[in-house]
Amino acid sequence: MTNKTTTLSKNQKLILTLLQEAQQKTGFISEEAMVGIAESLGISRSDVYGVATFYSFLSVQPQGRNVIRICKSLPCHLKNGQEIIESLEKQLGVKPGETTPDGKFSFTLTNCIGECDQAPAMLINDDVHGNLTPDKIARILKTYK
Ligand code: FES
Repeated sequence: MTNKTTTLSKNQKLILTLLQEAQQKTGFISEEAMVGIAESLGISRSDVYGVATFYSFLSVQPQGRNVIRICKSLPCHLKNGQEIIESLEKQLGVKPGETTPDGKFSFTLTNCIGECDQAPAMLINDDVHGNLTPDKIARILKTYK
């Protein structure tokens, strides 16, 4: 007897693993990659797309050389998080979900990154940056090529 919940969970883990592999190869998850995963698992494209767009660390769009994920959750929000997000928008010249014209940075909003003690916080690639201020962000951005 099959437990449907367990089967679904295993499928989602498998989809997630395949999506992560696809992203590691090209930096994002292409339409072709999602179709290939759907066909190989015998599931719908929308199921694959649903997983690909659920997790903020996965992207279905080409990304810049450095990916900024800034926290939008409540603890960061309560410590001037919105001001920090707006400052980052201004400094980069792009909105969340966009990439700078030079391809240097992609900018996205994310839920808690587990660094609430350093709120407001963001990730650039795998680097954590916390206790952010507009001036600190400007200094941090200069350190990325
Ligand atoms: S709420 Fe922002 S890092 Fe946790």
